[in-house]
Amino acid sequence: MAIYDYTDSNIKRASEILNAGGVVSFPTETVYGLGADVFNAKAVAKIFEVKERPFFDPLIVHLYEKIQVEDLAKSITPMADILINHFWPGPLTIVTKKNSKVPDLVTSGLDTVALRIPNHPVALQLLKETKTPIAAPSANPFGYLSPTTAKHVDDQLGGKIDMIIDGGSCDVGVESTIINVDGEKGIILRLGGTSVEDIESVIGTVDIGYAAGKPEAPGQLPFHYSPLTPVEILNTGEKPDFTEEGVVFLLEKEIDVAFPEERCEILSKDGDKREIAANLFSALHRLDKRKAKKIVAEPIELNGLGKAIMDRLKKASKRRGVHER
Ligand code: TXA
Ligand code: MG
Repeated sequence: MAIYDYTDSNIKRASEILNAGGVVSFPTETVYGLGADVFNAKAVAKIFEVKERPFFDPLIVHLYEKIQVEDLAKSITPMADILINHFWPGPLTIVTKKNSKVPDLVTSGLDTVALRIPNHPVALQLLKETKTPIAAPSANPFGYLSPTTAKHVDDQLGGKIDMIIDGGSCDVGVESTIINVDGEKGIILRLGGTSVEDIESVIGTVDIGYAAGKPEAPGQLPFHYSPLTPVEILNTGEKPDFTEEGVVFLLEKEIDVAFPEERCEILSKDGDKREIAANLFSALHRLDKRKAKKIVAEPIELNGLGKAIMDRLKKASKRRGVHER
């Protein structure tokens, strides 16, 4: 068992492993990350190997204080400065021109680097203790559901990594929003835990990169975040057919008609978007374990965090996985 409680001594041990070139999984407010010392290219290579992640998909670098941005980026652009002051620590990743110290492997050869300070006490303590920025993607095999508990990480990657620090379930539950901050206007590269509305209230209108045909975050493949069970999303207003056999259901909120509780996961009592996001991956993990014929999911209304939630659900529905039986 590679799972350790978040005690001071375990966090210290994790930092020693990281400083010695190992990989460690740790909790953040969004999802669990799989970390390595950003300046140790060999350690970073291990992340790609463990995740079976293609090298064209760059990593997010995690920091614990703003001043560290200067170790990795060319500069802090005015837009970056506003966003950092407003949203860090938190689920927002900024993409900006990198400096020459950042290994190419981290950025997949791009001239930009993705940076964020996570809002999680265990992650922050680990980052501080380790003293170096930590490159960390989500701690799941490439393309599979993201982990929001230490157990999810252990189930998927346990045998392959040096240590998992258990900090409980992730509060936000979907990955950080990614924004490029180098142009006149911000460009959203991935929807996530900070809503577009909140970002626009601080820096004005942003472009949505992935919709405008502009370069989206590499690695934002049409399939992603996918369980092995096929996912089908209902149309708005369409009611789930609970009589269909061998099917499990992902419901947005509690409903007032009879439904087969043992085949359903309810994301939120009353449709609260934060609660839905926090429960999304856990519910999908549980439904996927049922090895049902398919997962039928209700759509989520497209405002606030709803956009990021629907982005994950749509991508989950693109790949038809196969269970080993
Ligand atoms: O919430 C999160 O962001 C989590 C936690 C662990 O911090 N991390 C995460 O990492 O979601 P990952 O590797 O699963 O997704 C990182 C995304 C990828 O889609 C990648 O393409 C994008 O960040 N990315 C990284 N560097 C980039 C860059 N220089 N330009 C554009 N996109 C970049
Ligand atoms: Mg990921």
